[in-house]
Order: sequence, then C-alpha cells, then structure tokens
Amino acid sequence: MVSDTPKHYPVLLNEIISIITPQHGGTFIDCTFGQGGYTKEILKFKKTQIIALDRDIKSKKKADEIEKKFSGRLLFKNKKFSQLDNLKLKDQKIRGVIFDLGYSFAQIKDQEKGLSFNSVGELNMQMGLNDFSASDAVNKLDAKELEKIFKFFGDEKEAKRISLRIVQKRQSKQLNNKDLVEIIEKTKKKNFKTHSATKVFQSLRIFVNNEISELIHGLIAATKVLKKDGILAVVTFHSLEDKIVKYFFKSLSENKSVSRYVPKIDQPKNLFSLIKKKPITPSLKELKENLPSRSAKLRYVIKKEDFYDFKTDIFEKFEYLISIENFGNKL
Ligand SMILES: C[S@@+](CC[C@H](N)C(=O)[O-])C[C@H]1O[C@@H](n2cnc3c(N)ncnc32)[C@H](O)[C@@H]1O
Repeated sequence: MVSDTPKHYPVLLNEIISIITPQHGGTFIDCTFGQGGYTKEILKFKKTQIIALDRDIKSKKKADEIEKKFSGRLLFKNKKFSQLDNLKLKDQKIRGVIFDLGYSFAQIKDQEKGLSFNSVGELNMQMGLNDFSASDAVNKLDAKELEKIFKFFGDEKEAKRISLRIVQKRQSKQLNNKDLVEIIEKTKKKNFKTHSATKVFQSLRIFVNNEISELIHGLIAATKVLKKDGILAVVTFHSLEDKIVKYFFKSLSENKSVSRYVPKIDQPKNLFSLIKKKPITPSLKELKENLPSRSAKLRYVIKKEDFYDFKTDIFEKFEYLISIENFGNKL
C-alpha cells in the first residue's frame, strides 16, 4: 500500500542525540518540532521532557499523537521560536535547545503553502503565523526592494533583470506561482544542475517568514533559557543561516568581535564553549538514504556559566539583512 503521508527523515538525528545525551534525562526544547522526528527520539529516553514549538499549526496533529504515546512529557506550542523568551522559562532547568531550520518534507509537498516552484496557484510561502505572503511581496514591493531580496537572500545573479520583469509583467495581472517561474525561466539561462527558480524561491521564503530575524531572536532566547552545561544545537541548510550561527557561536565563545566595524563587547569571556569549529555534516550512509540532507550543517555550543542577560552585537553585524526583511512592514 502506498502511504499518502510524505516520508520524513530527521536530518543528523544520531549526531543530535549523541551531542545532547538524553539518556541523562532532563528538559529539552525542540524549537522546530516539524513531524516530531527529534522529539520522538528524545522521549524514548525515560526521564526526559520536551517543550516543542512550531509556527505551523499542522504540526499540532503529530504533536497530539506523540503526546498520547509519552503522556505528560510533551508540551507543544504553536509559536515562533523568536517568542521563546515570552514562555517564561527562566526558572526551568533546560538541558538542551535544538533548532532544525527551514521547512519539512511535508511542507514542501503541501500545495497550499506553495513553497515549491512546482506548486500551482497563488504565491504563498507562509510557514505559519505570518503577516504577509509571497504574493504580497511579488505584487507590491518596488523593483529595487525585490532585487535586494533576490540578491541578498538568494544570491541570485540575475536579481535586477528578474525584478524589473516582475514589475513590468504585474501591470497586466496579479502574478501567481506559475507566472513567477515563467518570468525567471525567460530571464535566466537554463541550469541543468538546479531549477532556475531555486534561488528566487529560497529568497522569497526567507523574506516572507522573516527567517533572519527569527533566527537571531531565537538564538539569543535559547542562550538565556539554558542552564549551566546546557547545549544549544543548530542544523542549518543554507549559507546565510550558517553564517549567522557561526558568527554568533564564535562571538559567544571568544567574546571577540569578528568584524572590525563592530565594537568588542564588555562582558565576561567564554560564556559558552565551542567544542568543534567545523560543522558536523551528514554521513555517507545518511546521504545515500536522504539526499536532501546534503546541505545540512550542525553546530553546537555548551553553556559554561549560569546567566540570564548578556550583550551581543549580532543585530549590528546583520543589520543590513534585517533592514531588507523590514520591507515587509509596509505590506
Ligand atoms: C526541517 S523542519 C523540522 C523537522 C524536525 N526536526 C523533525 O525531525 O520532524 C522545520 C520546522 O521548523 C518550523 N519552523 C521554521 N521556522 C520557525 C520559527 N521561526 N518558529 C517556529 N517554527 C519554525 C517549520 O514550520 C518546520 O515545521
């Protein structure tokens, strides 16, 4: 029998488990519950508890199933991880916080979400709890703003030409998913390795879901709620996310300003230990079983002291990217 539920493969699962050591019990936060791949595995260890977040309400169904099986040990919240700080977890002894960024296989297959260039219908790309859609962005922002989104969030070389065509084309009709793909295909040379619309779609998804600000706020909140010796682990899927995580972890563990334009911060050194400078990537076995994991990178840090408040220069460092996301405020 063929299942209609898309197959889910939790990326770098064994590596996550060996880093956070759930066999010692404790409370963990799964900031990106998705299909509950990590949560389920952690709950198999007795004396563990999970607080799970996901912005997509469709995750709740899976969370209810898992909660029934491991009764009382899973608390699911349909919230964005940038709101982690508002959950008043300050006095909870959190042993680990995990982020597995991006979207799940179920979401990419979800036609309603329109995350894929193969989707039909309206441009959407909202993962959940959003303020606007990709259609609002593509049909309302000016050409310069669209160009910046495609260039800085997607590294799209043809950003300018594509955005000018969009603005020209939308004079006669509201653009949908298919129209956008057609514009990109007509503007760019065919690339046989990846679909020509990959970069533009990635950039719009980042923009619509505020992924840069979400990540920065989520990381800061996570560092605060962890107890001493707690672990913060993040799996990223594209270079922009990885750049932010890498910078943040480096600055936390060295108290060094990586950029000469950003002042060094006056606070105790070494709030966190960075055990491995290089990211952990999927094994050959995992790559064989799940090719989309090929761009995954796992980085982690360990909290060395109990503290709640600390200073960070991460907002200044990524100010320009945040300013691009702010175009969304007018939509
Ligand atoms: C790659 S999937 C996680 C898969 C999960 N680790 C598993 O094994 O099932 C990413 C999930 O994070 C959620 N997500 C993305 N950004 C989020 C945010 N800012 N706040 C909360 N959830 C978010 C998405 O809705 C998606 O369900």
